[in-house]
Amino acid sequence: MKIALIGYGKMGHEIEAIALERGHTIELIIDHNNSDQLNEKSLANVDVAIEFTTPESAFENVMTCLRANTPVVSGTTGWLQKLDEAKAFANAGNGALFNASNYSIGVNIFFIANKILASYLNKTNNYKPSICEIHHTQKKDAPSGTAITLAKIIENELSNYNGWSLLPEIDEQKIPIEAIREGSVPGTHIVTYSSAEDEITFTHKAKSRKGFALGAVLAAEYSIGKKGFLTMDSLLGID
Ligand SMILES: NC(=O)c1ccc[n+]([C@@H]2O[C@H](COP(=O)([O-])OP(=O)(O)OC[C@H]3O[C@@H](n4cnc5c(N)ncnc54)[C@H](O)[C@@H]3O)[C@@H](O)[C@H]2O)c1
Repeated sequence: MKIALIGYGKMGHEIEAIALERGHTIELIIDHNNSDQLNEKSLANVDVAIEFTTPESAFENVMTCLRANTPVVSGTTGWLQKLDEAKAFANAGNGALFNASNYSIGVNIFFIANKILASYLNKTNNYKPSICEIHHTQKKDAPSGTAITLAKIIENELSNYNGWSLLPEIDEQKIPIEAIREGSVPGTHIVTYSSAEDEITFTHKAKSRKGFALGAVLAAEYSIGKKGFLTMDSLLGID
């Protein structure tokens, strides 16, 4: 598989290492300083693009790939307000867009565990959910895309809740999310369900960025020859 890496920062480097290990080649590397070289011509020779950049540039990068009919795996978080437009463009028959707020297989299983637990807790209405996410200090968006995905999964199951709020903002009907930035933490998510009598806590702690990078390369392999909007649920066979 010939890969275009769009974004050659912390994730771009991790993805390159995993892709080479799996026998793929990196045909094109686009970063901040040569972003004007991302176009139909430079993409003509690649099978798939993997995009981990910034919330400001993700949408345009993804659209350029879709217009060039190059399947694109997008991992950038913090551009949700434009994602629906890119998704609709892909679903209208223009290429393939794979998007996940978190490419770690473990996190996607963690999503399922929270969905099941929340569906049971909904029968009692006694438990208040809250999410705490901890990431490195260079992270640009808050809360994390993963915390937002978790909140959406949980609120879908709990009839007393509708949406999420980032602390210090508090709203009884919204799931509170605390975003902590410290050191070089790759990504920790703690979900707490608290009642007057007890507390249930689920934690996912990434040990490095390798799990995200492996998931992104698996998603790239999966995207070849497909059309429309693709997710981790389809990759893992759980939808
Ligand atoms: N979905 C996931 O599993 C997952 C996992 C980790 C990180 N992320 C997200 O991925 C993104 C990147 O994370 P990172 O840790 O690699 O950040 P980073 O800051 O280390 O790297 C981002 C890179 O993008 C480059 N860039 C900026 N503008 C660009 C443009 N217009 N075109 C091409 N490249 C451009 C920067 O120069 C930088 O090298 C963030 O949004 C982060 O939240 C997602």
